[in-house]
Amino acid sequence: MDQATFSAFRKVVYDTSGIALGANKEALVCARVAKRMRVLGITDYAAYLDHVLHDHSGEEIVQLINAISTNVTSFFREPDHFEFLAQAMSEWIADGQQRFRLWSSACSTGEEPYSMAITLLEAAGGLAIDARILATDISTRVLAECDRGVYQREKLKDVSPALKSRYFELRDSRGRDAYAVRQDLKRLLLLRRLNLAKPPFPMKGPLDAVFCRNVMIYFDNSSKQSLLSEIHRLLKPGGYLFVGHAETLAGMRSQFKPVRPSIYAK
Ligand SMILES: C[S@@+](CC[C@H](N)C(=O)[O-])C[C@H]1O[C@@H](n2cnc3c(N)ncnc32)[C@H](O)[C@@H]1O
Repeated sequence: MDQATFSAFRKVVYDTSGIALGANKEALVCARVAKRMRVLGITDYAAYLDHVLHDHSGEEIVQLINAISTNVTSFFREPDHFEFLAQAMSEWIADGQQRFRLWSSACSTGEEPYSMAITLLEAAGGLAIDARILATDISTRVLAECDRGVYQREKLKDVSPALKSRYFELRDSRGRDAYAVRQDLKRLLLLRRLNLAKPPFPMKGPLDAVFCRNVMIYFDNSSKQSLLSEIHRLLKPGGYLFVGHAETLAGMRSQFKPVRPSIYAK
C-alpha cells in the first residue's frame, strides 16, 4: 500500500471511529483491508479506498471499521472488576435499591455484558430486581454475535460449572459443542450500535456502572477526554467506571475519583 493510500485509510478510520492507527500499523491495515477486498473482488487498495469514500449508503465504512477493530474479549475478563461489581451490587441491594442500569460500552461479541448480567443475577440471589444492561459497540458484526449469544465450549473456560449450568444451554453449533445463553440472561441486554467517538450519546442516565474497557487504548487524548465527560454525565453520583487494566485516567482532566486500579467512582 502506498503512503498516500495508507494515510487516507488512517484519516477515514479516525474521522469515523476515533481509532487512532499509528504510523507503524500499515501491515495490520493491509492484512485486514485485504480480507474485505477479497469478499468484494477488489484487488487494489486505492480502488477499495475509493469504494469506501464513494459509498454514500455508509455501509462500506461500517464494514471497514468491522475489519479494522480488534474484538478480543472473554467471559469474566479482568475478574477483579466482576468481584468489585458483585460487592457494589450487594451493597446497593442491602440499601433497598431495586432498579439497576448498567452499560457495556464496547461490548464486542457479548462476553462482557453477559458476564455483567450473570454478576447482577448472582448478587440478587433470586430477589426480583429491575435490571437492564445496555450493550453497545461500533461494529455491527460483533453486535450480531452478541445477539446470537452462542459460544464455543473453549470460550467458557473461565465460567464455573455451576454458572454454566444456570445460565447456558449446551447445543450443537456447526457440528461442535457450544453453549447458548439462556433467555432469562439474554432479556437483560439491550443492544445498540453506538460510536464512542461521537458524543453526545442519546441516553439520559443515571447509570449505576459503566464498563469502558480496552477501547480507549485506540483513542487519542481528545477523543478520550470527551468520552470521559459523557460517561461522567451519565453515571449516578457514587456510580462506577471500569476501564481496562492497561488503561488509566492519569493525565486526563476528569472529575472521577480512583477507588482501585482501573476502577473509578463519580
Ligand atoms: C478489544 S475489544 C474490548 C471488548 C470488551 N470491552 C473487553 O474489554 O473485553 C474493543 C471493542 O471496541 C470496539 N470499538 C472500537 N472503536 C469503537 C468506537 N469508536 N465506538 C464503539 N466501539 C468501538 C470494537 O469494535 C471492539 O469490539
